[in-house]
Amino acid sequence: MNVRIVRTTLLFGSMVFTMGFIMNTVISDRTKEYQRTVDKLRNLNTIKKRILEGRVLQVTPASGQEYIFSNKSIIDRKVSPKDRKVTPKSIIREDEVKTCQPKRAADRMENLFGGQFNRSLSPFATLSSIRSANSTKYPLPFGFHGTERTASDVVGKLPDTDIPADIKKLPCRRCIVIGNGGLLKGSKLGSHIDQYDAVFRLNIAPIKGYESDVGTKTTIRAVYPESSNIGSKAYTQNWTLLVVPFKANDLKWLDTIIEGRDLKKLKGFWSTTVDFVPKPRKDLRLYNPEITSELSFNLIGMKSGKGSKNVPTTGAMVIMVAIRVCDEVSVAGFGYDMKRLDTPIHYYSSQKTKAILSSFTHDIDHETKFLHKLVEQGVINDITGGLRTKL
Ligand SMILES: *[C@@H]1O[C@H](CO)[C@@H](O)[C@H](O)[C@H]1NC(C)=O
Ligand SMILES: *[C@@H]1O[C@H](CO)[C@@H](O)[C@H](O)[C@H]1NC(C)=O
Ligand SMILES: *[C@@H]1O[C@H](CO)[C@@H](O)[C@H](O)[C@H]1NC(C)=O
Ligand SMILES: *[C@@H]1O[C@H](CO)[C@@H](O)[C@H](O)[C@H]1NC(C)=O
Repeated sequence: MNVRIVRTTLLFGSMVFTMGFIMNTVISDRTKEYQRTVDKLRNLNTIKKRILEGRVLQVTPASGQEYIFSNKSIIDRKVSPKDRKVTPKSIIREDEVKTCQPKRAADRMENLFGGQFNRSLSPFATLSSIRSANSTKYPLPFGFHGTERTASDVVGKLPDTDIPADIKKLPCRRCIVIGNGGLLKGSKLGSHIDQYDAVFRLNIAPIKGYESDVGTKTTIRAVYPESSNIGSKAYTQNWTLLVVPFKANDLKWLDTIIEGRDLKKLKGFWSTTVDFVPKPRKDLRLYNPEITSELSFNLIGMKSGKGSKNVPTTGAMVIMVAIRVCDEVSVAGFGYDMKRLDTPIHYYSSQKTKAILSSFTHDIDHETKFLHKLVEQGVINDITGGLRTKL
């Protein structure tokens, strides 16, 4: 039997093939074990198959055993039936993390969106970005209109508004943005995630207790005040804190951190914030809200009326940051598997996906479509598959 992977499909996301097609599209050195397994799988009728990034084939037979193939051989087949219920249907070939194509994500964004996407936008607010025409046009969270002075005062105190030095020095940066979705629960992707050059995390998403699924490495964590309460101790590690401002008070919040003062007494937040952030100024950044206006108005196509409530999720914003900071961008824990409504909404919660279906808003829908498009067109690589399944 001639089993081979077609390289030309590599870069363009995953496709679901029929069993027969897979049999004919995976190249292998035909190790005995591989062959035996393939033969065995042919006889199982309830089989799900996927080619992820064209390079890894994963088959999940009804028995609950997962088989993951690469070009060479079986690389993993040790998922227990118990875990499988919430296991994302994807694992990545080991050597995928060792190659890196410079500027891949931004080049593909440009191909896809032309002038609607400005690759030169700084992901982090700088004194000049605050003064730019678009930034002064819209108020927060889309720009600094009306808060230019505060924003400049705050950013003026930051010694560095560039890509964090330890990743800036790399010739090609491979990054992953960890969404908080339940698809990560039981994924055992932790050690894979830790191999990326930079790991972006969002809001209060915890690491402790979830290391085997979400890894331990953090390079940048994006929060807004109300999503910051992971305990002061977490902030003692050396990652970069990216503050996403939604309102003027959020600038004051960052200023208080810069000044090394307690956050407890600050008023004007709709939820508790972390008490104190022990971070040196060099590890602090302010998010550039122009990224949000471009994302909302130019890329997702939300309406830009006054007092617009159509704000993208922090996850989408941080993906757009990663596309500027990194050469290649993968994501994990985004989206939902509509066929598995018992998957928890967050990897760290027990609330089920079912519960949120009714609250899906129109605009989240637009955003999801946008993210699907990025995956389809190979701008980003979704390793847990939630952005591949059709809504
Ligand atoms: C499969 O692996 C072999 C040996 O590592 C390599 O020479 C070959 O190009 C690979 N083929 C594909 C399609 O990836
Ligand atoms: C893109 O962003 C850069 C940096 O803010 C700016 O100088 C440039 O004018 C922008 N280009 C367009 C076409 O808006
Ligand atoms: C942060 O600490 C980790 C572990 O101690 C280390 O590997 C990493 O290089 C440090 N990063 C920076 C930016 O200092
Ligand atoms: C920002 O300004 C440029 C012109 O310099 C424009 O092309 C772009 O669409 C503007 N709007 C947003 C939301 O980025």
